[in-house]
Amino acid sequence: MSKITVSTLNKMKAEKNKITALTAYDASFAKLFHDNGVDVILVGDSLGMVLQGGDDTLAVTNQDIAYHTRCVRGGSRELFIIADMPFMTYSSVSETCKNAAQLMRAGANMVKLEGGEWLYDSIKTLTQQGIPVCGHLGLTPQSVHVFGGFKVQGREEIKALEMIADAQALEAAGAQMIVLECIPSELAKRITDAINIPTIGIGAGTQTDGQILVMHDLVGISAGYIPKFSKNFLLETGNMPDAVKKYCRDVKSGAFPSAEHEFK
Ligand code: KIV
Repeated sequence: MSKITVSTLNKMKAEKNKITALTAYDASFAKLFHDNGVDVILVGDSLGMVLQGGDDTLAVTNQDIAYHTRCVRGGSRELFIIADMPFMTYSSVSETCKNAAQLMRAGANMVKLEGGEWLYDSIKTLTQQGIPVCGHLGLTPQSVHVFGGFKVQGREEIKALEMIADAQALEAAGAQMIVLECIPSELAKRITDAINIPTIGIGAGTQTDGQILVMHDLVGISAGYIPKFSKNFLLETGNMPDAVKKYCRDVKSGAFPSAEHEFK
């Protein structure tokens, strides 16, 4: 497979060729995902839950993400890797730059930050200094205690309008991609139409420019339960390479997610 860059991802958006993404935390899975058609790998702070067994993502450190980014990069030099910036590692512009630089040195191609307009200065500085940025709106798991649980966001029109304005502010600051998590499908479409950079959905319906899942959800081994927006692709395929291929095929064709995985 050829090397994916931000230009490839923009072209995919323009051509309505859906972007496929999965989380990975080590070299073997990252390579397997890439070899079977995944365009983007996220070293997500979801590792605090699926690898470390936490109830949320808050205990994850920048060192944790740097370590797993290095592991994932070991899977292939061709991978497009987004590394998550953990809770409270981007609370000032200078902290953000220092911590993002550590993740880029570990092998990331882009860093992801959760939040809206308040990140404007940090994102502007990061991109000026050569660090590509992915935003993350909707159910931003690092704010789980503010939300009072892992809940769908943006159902009220005032919140929806705020989220659209946040997406536009992230783009204006220089962000080159935005993850939209657990929001009504119709709002995901409005956001995708309101900006020029690719949107990647998880629990955000079919109208985003791409989809992402936590790898443990894709194979049905997340501790506890499978979220409504996810699907166990291993059940119907029986082996990992075919599960990944089916996920990619279904995302590209629009078969996944279907109505049962959406929020209204
Ligand atoms: O940490 C993570 O895996 C994420 C995805 C759920 C998008 O942020």
